[in-house]
Amino acid sequence: MADTTLMDKLVSLCKRRGFVFQSSEIYGGLGSVWDYGPLGVALKRNVKDRWWNSMVHARDDIEGLDAAILMHPRVWEASGHVAGFTDPLVDCRQCKNRFRADDPRIKGSPGQPDAQCPVCGTRGSLTEPRMFNLMFKTFMGPVEDSAAVVYLRPETAQGIYVNYLNVLQSSRQRIPFGIAQIGKAFRNEITPGNFIFRTREFEQMEMQFFVQPGTDAEWFERWREWRMGWHRSLGLDPAKLQWHQHSGSELAHYARAAFDIQYRFPFGWQEIEGIHNRGDFDLGRHQEYSGKKLEYFDQAKNQRYLPNIVETSAGADRVTLTLLVDAYREEQVEGETRVVLGLHPGIAPITAGVFPLVKKDGMPELADALYHELRRQFACFYDDSGAIGRRYRRMDEAGTPFGLTVDGDTLTARTVTVRHRDSMQQERVGLDQVAGYLKEKLGAGNWELPPAPISQLPAPGS
Ligand code: GAP
Repeated sequence: MADTTLMDKLVSLCKRRGFVFQSSEIYGGLGSVWDYGPLGVALKRNVKDRWWNSMVHARDDIEGLDAAILMHPRVWEASGHVAGFTDPLVDCRQCKNRFRADDPRIKGSPGQPDAQCPVCGTRGSLTEPRMFNLMFKTFMGPVEDSAAVVYLRPETAQGIYVNYLNVLQSSRQRIPFGIAQIGKAFRNEITPGNFIFRTREFEQMEMQFFVQPGTDAEWFERWREWRMGWHRSLGLDPAKLQWHQHSGSELAHYARAAFDIQYRFPFGWQEIEGIHNRGDFDLGRHQEYSGKKLEYFDQAKNQRYLPNIVETSAGADRVTLTLLVDAYREEQVEGETRVVLGLHPGIAPITAGVFPLVKKDGMPELADALYHELRRQFACFYDDSGAIGRRYRRMDEAGTPFGLTVDGDTLTARTVTVRHRDSMQQERVGLDQVAGYLKEKLGAGNWELPPAPISQLPAPGS
């Protein structure tokens, strides 16, 4: 399957089956803003839950936080976003389209007569690049003047930095420790695209780990390893995951070192998560701009210092897209094309479809009872319409790993048919053992992969 075709097919499946819809579609849509439908919201929630479990529940050295999207405007001066969160923008005077100046489709140098607009093809119509800030602005209160400007946060990280002492003191943590947060971020991207890969409103899953200066490089390496392990544990094809190290010119203003975890999408290798050694840049700047001391006093060492920060920053939407791309496959079965989303059972939006084989002989009643019992623990879907083969196919497209069919034997032998999405094999499981069976399958393989508990590892610098 050609790579472009794969993306087209995936976008169409996402709409047809209720994973992702264009925002405000009945009004013609809003550029690069997307809504998650019933299956999409369930899949993305599973991604976020799995991240939260591995960061917050499975560890005793990371606390959770949910900071507000709107923050004091000085935060964004301190962070460097007001001055530096910019992309070079060029306009086409002819067709009025806008591009990043480094858009690979532009031939020639923007501003020069030879430069050619990638959309209308006109030569010499592109303006000189000008810097464009990617932060969305709005106004706080009734007066729309410059004093009332606030920004929609372009990253969740700053909410963690400005709360680091609050969390430290209220949770009685000690350094090294981390703060994890999942939340919306907004960027007025000039060239968004590739479906939900680069959007103007998205969700980040960010964790900031506060460490003693001098131990940052070692913690950075640990977090790199743990984060790659997490992505692999989602069942992604390991051959499609790689590291990309930022060279000097690529490094963000705050970073001492940075690595991206990249996935091989149909449109090339692209970042899904960044791991950054931010040194003391962030706390240093917030200390300077707020005038509040943000130092940590290490009682054991009788030392006062500004902690260094190792950041792990993943996009929930990008990870969701990665899972969809990785899972999509087509197979020929009995002369028909079978579309399957081979999602890991633990992340699939629906764990089990429950079906009565036919709508008679007490099967619907029994299937309905099984469905309601399983629903208390698992995401289930009841379907009694159409031939059983069609119902299985509908669940294959939704990525549902198990089909449970109540049939004639259920009435006599108290067993159900379990049909497996990937192999299409069937087996019989006792009616009262189905819940245990599903639970076991959800925990199978390397699914349970929390990072090694810190307490079992020698701490860098100790
Ligand atoms: N706090 C650091 C930070 O925000 P980033 O590399 O700009 O770093 C981190 O973003 C992650 O957020 C990316 O790896 C990506 O998964 C996600 N992300 C960034 N911009 C995005 C966008 N426009 N649409 C969707 N996801 C985005």
